[in-house]
Amino acid sequence: MSSPALSGAVAHHPWWESGVIYQVYPRSFQDSDGDGIGDLAGVLARLDYIAALGVDAIWLSPVFPSPMADFGYDVADYCGIDPMFGDLAAFDSLLAAAHARGLKLILDFVPNHSSDQHPWFLASRSSRDDPKRDWYIWRDPAPGGGPPNNWISDFGGSAWEWDARTGQYYLHAFLKEQPDLNWRNPALRDAMMDVLRFWMDRGVDGFRIDVLWHIVKAEGLPDNPPNPHWTPAQTERDKLIQRYSTDQPEAHAIAADMRALADGYGERVLIGEIFLPNDRHARWYGAPDRPQVHLPFNFQLIENDWNAATLNRIIADYEASLPPFGWPNWVIGSHDAPRISARIGEAQARVAAMLLLTLRGTPTLYQGDEIGIGPVDIPPDRIRDPQHWRQPTLDIGRDRSRTPMPWDASANAGFTTGKPWLPLNADWPVRNVDAQLADSDSMLALYRALTALRRVTRALAIGGFAMAVGDSDVLAYERWHDDDRLLIALNLCAEPRQLLLPVGVRIAEVLASTLPSHPMDGTLHGDEGLVLRLERDD
Ligand code: NOJ
Ligand code: MG
Repeated sequence: MSSPALSGAVAHHPWWESGVIYQVYPRSFQDSDGDGIGDLAGVLARLDYIAALGVDAIWLSPVFPSPMADFGYDVADYCGIDPMFGDLAAFDSLLAAAHARGLKLILDFVPNHSSDQHPWFLASRSSRDDPKRDWYIWRDPAPGGGPPNNWISDFGGSAWEWDARTGQYYLHAFLKEQPDLNWRNPALRDAMMDVLRFWMDRGVDGFRIDVLWHIVKAEGLPDNPPNPHWTPAQTERDKLIQRYSTDQPEAHAIAADMRALADGYGERVLIGEIFLPNDRHARWYGAPDRPQVHLPFNFQLIENDWNAATLNRIIADYEASLPPFGWPNWVIGSHDAPRISARIGEAQARVAAMLLLTLRGTPTLYQGDEIGIGPVDIPPDRIRDPQHWRQPTLDIGRDRSRTPMPWDASANAGFTTGKPWLPLNADWPVRNVDAQLADSDSMLALYRALTALRRVTRALAIGGFAMAVGDSDVLAYERWHDDDRLLIALNLCAEPRQLLLPVGVRIAEVLASTLPSHPMDGTLHGDEGLVLRLERDD
């Protein structure tokens, strides 16, 4: 067998294809100055931990100057560092130290909206004649009064905010403190491209691009159609289908321009945050002669039920949806999603780790998942997530996934000498990095074993992929490269299951198990995942 990705000449696999990405949420990683909030010096102090985790790149959630209405996703200066996190010198030190360890550094670019405190918006709202007026999306009230159209903010409520001074509404897809930028304006476009240049000139290795599919709205801003399938368990946003507010052709053209700019700098990666069905998601790769993002983030392991039938279907459908030149990617956690261990339990979270690190495509790990942080109770008086505040009846709180990293058993888990901005996981005295480094059966040990295996096993990093036949409740697939052939069998239930081998092969070696020892008695134990090397049975 030969991998489709490797047919013909030996394909070059840039670092973002063979590598593993680790998302750092800087507020919650490591505090260095006792204010209870993580910072860049804190990340620097923990770089050896990240390198030893066996990952290749760090994606830093936003560290730019910001009023923090949405914890940095409201940017007030795209080319600076918030004093809470440090300064440009601290950033340069972190970048150099990361590079010295062979780690790439990816920044979070937030192009859809700025902060309402950004000088551009302050100018824009100052008068209808201001040169920056058109850098944002201003409209008169609807003919009968009220907002210009029916669009709903992703965080609930109208997407329009009335501005009494100039007598118009402005659009905000998220908080009113996050006005949407107008990417149809050439001067705004140029200014944002300059932002990308600023950071690439400094040496950053790429960008994760926030809500990329939102950045252009349909001409005329028509009402969005109602969603006939909406139920009250869903967010208010889901009452409408975002047909005219997202995924416009002009946004694809801008992504292609960003890519052309990035390609001019060598091996820099663009990762687009994009939630869409497979067919429309795949279009964000662009075309071979006019590519768009390298990796449109694939959140399907987060969004779907955890059972073999569903996973089989989404993995096969996703693989089938990719254009021939499109490289896959997978995610099981983020600062926006529930913790994987909270969602499916710790035993299955170990299986999920194996899935993430053995599927074809670039894996992105989210800080804290590698030690299996599970449910965290956030008392009402400590809720900080503005999305949660605005829709309190829904089970959507993002604070639960943003709690500080517990490093050791000292005060505040070694995260801060002050008061952590969010509570720690209640089990931090035992669930912390130090404790797990000392325990060869820990989740952290499993993650490190899997990243190490991936690093030395081309079949896992860049090899071919095909679904295999598994027993009920078992997800099975093969990976291969040259003569190396692997079977991954993941038991998604707590009962033992049969291990089914492809015809004509036998097990040569057990490379990894999610269970502490590697019991090989021909069965798959409950909650066990296995990576097996196969050989021909002659
Ligand atoms: C996606 C980010 O991941 C999320 O945290 C943020 O609230 C929204 N985009 C708005 O920027
Ligand atoms: Mg701090």
